[in-house]
Amino acid sequence: MLKQNFGMRGDDVVVVTGAASGIGRATAMLAGSFGLGVSAWDLDRAGVDEVVAEIVASGGRGMAVTVDVTDDDVVAAAFDATRETLGVPRYLVNNAGPPSTADLEFRQALQMAAGSMQMVTEKWLALELPAGAAVVNVASVAGNLVGAAPDWYGSSKAAIAGYTRFLAVTHGKRLRANVVAPGAVDTPRMAPYLARKVGQAWGARNPMGRIAEPEEIASVICFLLSPAAAHVNGVLLPIDGGATLTL
Ligand SMILES: NC(=O)c1ccc[n+]([C@@H]2O[C@H](COP(=O)([O-])OP(=O)(O)OC[C@H]3O[C@@H](n4cnc5c(N)ncnc54)[C@H](O)[C@@H]3O)[C@@H](O)[C@H]2O)c1
Repeated sequence: MLKQNFGMRGDDVVVVTGAASGIGRATAMLAGSFGLGVSAWDLDRAGVDEVVAEIVASGGRGMAVTVDVTDDDVVAAAFDATRETLGVPRYLVNNAGPPSTADLEFRQALQMAAGSMQMVTEKWLALELPAGAAVVNVASVAGNLVGAAPDWYGSSKAAIAGYTRFLAVTHGKRLRANVVAPGAVDTPRMAPYLARKVGQAWGARNPMGRIAEPEEIASVICFLLSPAAAHVNGVLLPIDGGATLTL
């Protein structure tokens, strides 16, 4: 666990979507350990309850919210609840998205994966954001640095990167917007691959000899949100151990 908090303030609030598992869970836990109030959003209520219980047990602040990030009304209500309970979120982490294994039709999938991040962000932008506001969107090396199946997955991740650049340029006086592009990360959705030879080969091919742990994505997300990255705006940051250099 990192000891520093990158200059984040104890009265700051962050919304993390998809906070019950994997990268979102690790991000919520790290932000909680930094002293931020964490609004942990997920479809999986038991999962976010557990995350928030752990944050609170460690002396932090948090709230669990049952949210489908594709549902406008639910997202609006979740921002209201966050504001009333913890305060206006200075930070937003758009992490939730369907797994690449989901059997989705292209247009529907883009709406779910990229459209939801745009909608959540628009509702956040409608708040009176405190100075130093920042958003980090979670894309992927897929669609940004490599072409990978299925068609909709990389396309949605490229759209997320494009939307982030739009935010960085158009809203730069109010906030910073950056996008992370993880390679393979050892999260629950990857377990079926990692149990097979094809998944183990990813680790072996990586210059670092392994894939990433979710905490290694979370720390970069928190850095990009924080005042330590005060002049970093609009970057796509690969977090892949150098894997895409070897392709
Ligand atoms: N794991 C990887 O190798 C990897 C690589 C690159 C990018 N990513 C991206 O990172 C993000 C998180 O992936 P992960 O591997 O941590 O996944 P995960 O499956 O471990 O966790 C995803 C969480 O998001 C929640 N979620 C999914 N759809 C939701 C919705 N509509 N509303 C609210 N919550 C929802 C799930 O319930 C789950 O708790 C995704 O956007 C994914 O595309 C993952």
